[in-house]
Amino acid sequence: MPDQEQDQRVAVVTGATSGIGLAVARLLATRNHKVFIGARDADNVAATVKELTAEGLEVDGAPLDVRSDESVQAWIRSAVDRFGAVDVVVNNAGRSGGGVTADIDAELWQDVIDTNLNSVFRVTKAALNTGGLRAKSRGRIINIASTAGKQGVVLGAPYSASKHGVVGFTKALGNELAPTGITVNAVCPGYVETPMAQRVRQGYAAAYDATEEQILEKFRAKIPLGRYSTPEEVAGLVGYLASDVAASITSQALNVCGGLGNF
Ligand SMILES: NC(=O)c1ccc[n+]([C@@H]2O[C@H](COP(=O)([O-])OP(=O)(O)OC[C@H]3O[C@@H](n4cnc5c(N)ncnc54)[C@H](OP(=O)(O)O)[C@@H]3O)[C@@H](O)[C@H]2O)c1
Repeated sequence: MPDQEQDQRVAVVTGATSGIGLAVARLLATRNHKVFIGARDADNVAATVKELTAEGLEVDGAPLDVRSDESVQAWIRSAVDRFGAVDVVVNNAGRSGGGVTADIDAELWQDVIDTNLNSVFRVTKAALNTGGLRAKSRGRIINIASTAGKQGVVLGAPYSASKHGVVGFTKALGNELAPTGITVNAVCPGYVETPMAQRVRQGYAAAYDATEEQILEKFRAKIPLGRYSTPEEVAGLVGYLASDVAASITSQALNVCGGLGNF
């Protein structure tokens, strides 16, 4: 039966006020999901809810900091109060961060790992328990990792480590939950044009004493497709993984990267 003929499903998307998360929220909402979004900036959450609602989509949200157990619990509770038990979790919130490893402050290391990796455990556990997903016979957990979760990125040790962790978590939990009908997969973008991508180029420009345009050209040259992916292209795979026909895809880490990663 096509998804459109099913009852609406409830999806929660972290970091959905920008870039990939925003594209994911919009796509899932157009595909028969009620979508609850979160990010730290409350004004951006309200503006995004307003924008998507104005497009005729069923979207609500609340402020969220994925680094805080308390915030995550309250956010999942709000999602259930608003839309009902959770069917689909998209762990998207994340941050860049790195530098010369010997010079990296412990605080930066901890924050990258907390934001990108511990958050995935935190939100997933809350969705399974408080969100009611654990009791369901069909569910989807989709973690936005990175091609940096499969290969080392120079000057990106904390980021790369955090995303390798997300891939490992995905594979372990996918195998654990396989008999339940809940699939767990990672989507691994390569270079995607978002505000984060701009910040990353600024960081490398400073590190290599180059212009942002030079860094952009250097990165583009590495991508067989010759360009960055779009947030919508990443969201497309998330939408597929959330659909019924993706029921046998679990414990996978799938790239959307213009050929950047061959693994
Ligand atoms: N862009 C790329 O090239 C690329 C490549 C591979 C993987 N990725 C991954 O894709 C995901 C999305 O990246 P993006 O490029 O779309 O980034 P983005 O444009 O910077 O958006 C990040 C989103 O996450 C939210 N966020 C950040 N920290 C948070 C926190 N502690 N708690 C809750 N929300 C938080 C941000 O809102 P607030 O700041 O208001 O919290 C924003 O909504 C990330 O996991 C990233 O690592 C991106």
